[in-house]
Amino acid sequence: MGGTEAGVWVSLRLAVRAWEIERRMRIGLVQSAPVFGGVERNRRRLLDLMGSARADLYVLPELCLSGYVFAETKEVEALSEPADGPSAQQFVEFARKTGSFVVFGFAERSTHLYNSAALVGPDGLVGVYRKVHLFDRERLFFAPGDRGFPVFDLPFGRVGMMICFDWIFPESARSLALRGAQLIAHPSNLVLPHCPDAMVTRCLENRVFAATADRVGRELHAGRSLTFIGTSEVVSPSGEILTRMSRDEEGVALCDVDPAAALQKQVTPMSDVFEGRRPDQYTLGRPDIG
Ligand code: ACM
Repeated sequence: MGGTEAGVWVSLRLAVRAWEIERRMRIGLVQSAPVFGGVERNRRRLLDLMGSARADLYVLPELCLSGYVFAETKEVEALSEPADGPSAQQFVEFARKTGSFVVFGFAERSTHLYNSAALVGPDGLVGVYRKVHLFDRERLFFAPGDRGFPVFDLPFGRVGMMICFDWIFPESARSLALRGAQLIAHPSNLVLPHCPDAMVTRCLENRVFAATADRVGRELHAGRSLTFIGTSEVVSPSGEILTRMSRDEEGVALCDVDPAAALQKQVTPMSDVFEGRRPDQYTLGRPDIG
C-alpha cells in the first residue's frame, strides 16, 4: 500500500472511530414506586427523578403512571390515556428541554386497552409498543399487542421495546435483534425473581444492550397485593451487568454505552449468532406435544 493510500485508510479509521465515540450515549434507568391510581402524583415524581440526572435516553417502568394491581376493567379505563395523551405531552416537553428521549410504560386507551410503552423525543411521539405477552391477570384487562416488535432509529442507534414478561419468550428479544435493535428498552413491573439474570442470556444470545427499568414497593389494592423486585439493570451484548439497582429504592442509575458494540454479532471469529442460525431446523409453530 502506498504512503498516501495508507494515510487515507488511517484517516478513515479515525473518522469512523470518532463517529462511533460521538454515538456513545447515556442511559438513565428510572426505578420508581408508583401509588395505585395516582397518575398525576406518579408523573410528577417521575419528572423529578428524571430531572435529577442527565441522560440521553430515560427508561421508565411498565404502567408507571397508573400502578399495576387492577381489580376491574373500569379502573384501567379510568387510568388509561391515548398514546399522545397528557403523559406523553409532558414527557415530550421534558425531552424538548433536555434534548433527550423517554420510554415509559402506560395503560393505552385506543380501540382496546393495551399495556403499552411509548417512546417520545424532542419532536414528539416516536412510536408505541403494545405488550405482546400479557402476564397473569393482565389478561383480564388488556388486549394482547397487535403490532409485533417495532424498532426506531434514534441519533445514537436503533432502539426497540419489550415489556416485562416478554422476557420469558426468547422470540421477543430475538425479533427486535433481527430487526436491528442495538438497545432494548424494557419497562417492567417484575414480581418473579428470574428476569434480571435471564436478561444476561437474552443480551448474550442476541448481542444487544438491554435496559430493564423496574418498579419497587408493595402495592395493595382491593384485597390483592404484589411486591415488586426492583433490580433495574443495564446489560451489555457480552452479557455483562453494567449497572444493577437495589431491590427497594427509588432513584435513577446512569450508564454510558456504545450502541455500535451491538452491531458486532460474533462470539468467536467463526461463530456469529445471526449467521449461525438454522431456521430450516427449527420448529416455529405450535409444539407437537401429547
Ligand atoms: C409482568 O409482566 N408485569 C410480570
